[in-house]
Amino acid sequence: MERPKFPPRGTQDLFFDKAELLSEIEQKAAKIFARAGFREIKTPIFESTEIFQRAAGEGSDLVSKEMYTFLDRSERSLTLRPEGTAGIVRALLTNQLDRTPHPVKLWYSGPMFRYERSQTGRFRQFHQLGLEVFGSQAKTIELESINLAVNLLKLLGIKDFRLELNTLGEKETRVKYLSVLKSFLEKHQEKLCLDCQKRIKKNPLRALDCKVEEDQALYQEHAPRIYQYLSSKEKTEFAELQELLKALKIDFVHNQFLVRGLDYYNQTVFELKVPDLELGSQNTLCAGGRYDSLVQEFGGPSLPAFGWAFGLERLLLLLEKLEKLEKLEKKETTTSSNFSLDYFVVDEIKDFLGAYSLVEKLRARNLKVSLDYSQRSPQKQIQLAKKQRAQKIIFYKGKRENYEERDL
Ligand code: HAM
Repeated sequence: MERPKFPPRGTQDLFFDKAELLSEIEQKAAKIFARAGFREIKTPIFESTEIFQRAAGEGSDLVSKEMYTFLDRSERSLTLRPEGTAGIVRALLTNQLDRTPHPVKLWYSGPMFRYERSQTGRFRQFHQLGLEVFGSQAKTIELESINLAVNLLKLLGIKDFRLELNTLGEKETRVKYLSVLKSFLEKHQEKLCLDCQKRIKKNPLRALDCKVEEDQALYQEHAPRIYQYLSSKEKTEFAELQELLKALKIDFVHNQFLVRGLDYYNQTVFELKVPDLELGSQNTLCAGGRYDSLVQEFGGPSLPAFGWAFGLERLLLLLEKLEKLEKLEKKETTTSSNFSLDYFVVDEIKDFLGAYSLVEKLRARNLKVSLDYSQRSPQKQIQLAKKQRAQKIIFYKGKRENYEERDL
């Protein structure tokens, strides 16, 4: 046999600096996650095919074109995971993690597989690093999750990024909107690119993030916006998240055309992007959103959820571009198998943002800290602190630094 010249199409060998940098990103993220009370989960690299079919939706490109599906020797249909969320929902239910105290906060990192056209920043085997939070509908959970993604970028020295945000509303809203959008697309069918013509039947929402300039210009100018079809409750909830982001000084833009390629999302969706110059069209570093009905669709209880995933190869490419390949400063990572929080902040005055800023200060000192996202009574918060095995609680009583600390 001749010396092999290339790895399989769409894959790459990572070694030396690049492999080390990938591990360093994971370690840095692990630290951020641990301080925020997230636990690690590792799920199989393959699952029953139906897990992904049910989660991502039959109409999605992911299921219809991109899965590595095969029959094993016992004729079972298995699929190499194209993303992390579906397997984690399966694992949550298999292992009854849904019965552990809420919110259940998990993080993961590992290889994913998609049969896509390979190009810069787009591979057939790539790594995702992500988090999933189960059991809370609170906008504060969305804030915390997005904040952690932003913090990771900042820690890696990436400053030039943009947070794009949208809401897809609930199912009823989408049904109403989709019929209007479909009529609009049908009306302009002849002018659309071939892909968008197919999307009219299969997945009209996806037309909106078409990369063809003429199509995009038409949509920007004339396509109906989902925002017009939101109920007032949905609008208020979306505004609430925006207010929280503003309070934390996280800049964002409301991109009315941000839809996601997977069918499981409702309400908030978001992406963290870098300018096109840096990574070409594959400029989304991190993407995610809310998916409140997936656990139930998998036969579990009604359990709202929110999560996101970074593509690590895109981070590597960007860091390379930014000439950040020199060793990132190394600090001891504290990973203890006997996980417990150092502190739990009890918010006595129902001022989430005030309490959260205290949480952030403590986390910056390398402490593992959490709080209650639902603003329940102090007693309930103390119960939660006990369940989460916090060593100490701090009572947050207001901005003037008059905290009271107590052992649990
Ligand atoms: P996604 O947008 O399909 O979402 O992928 C998330 C990120 O993975 C993308 O923003 C990108 O950085 C990276 N990525 C995706 N495909 C490729 C590829 N072919 N090559 C390189 N990088 C890629 C999800 O997978 C959801 N599971 C995210 C999520 C978690 N939503 C809720 N929880």
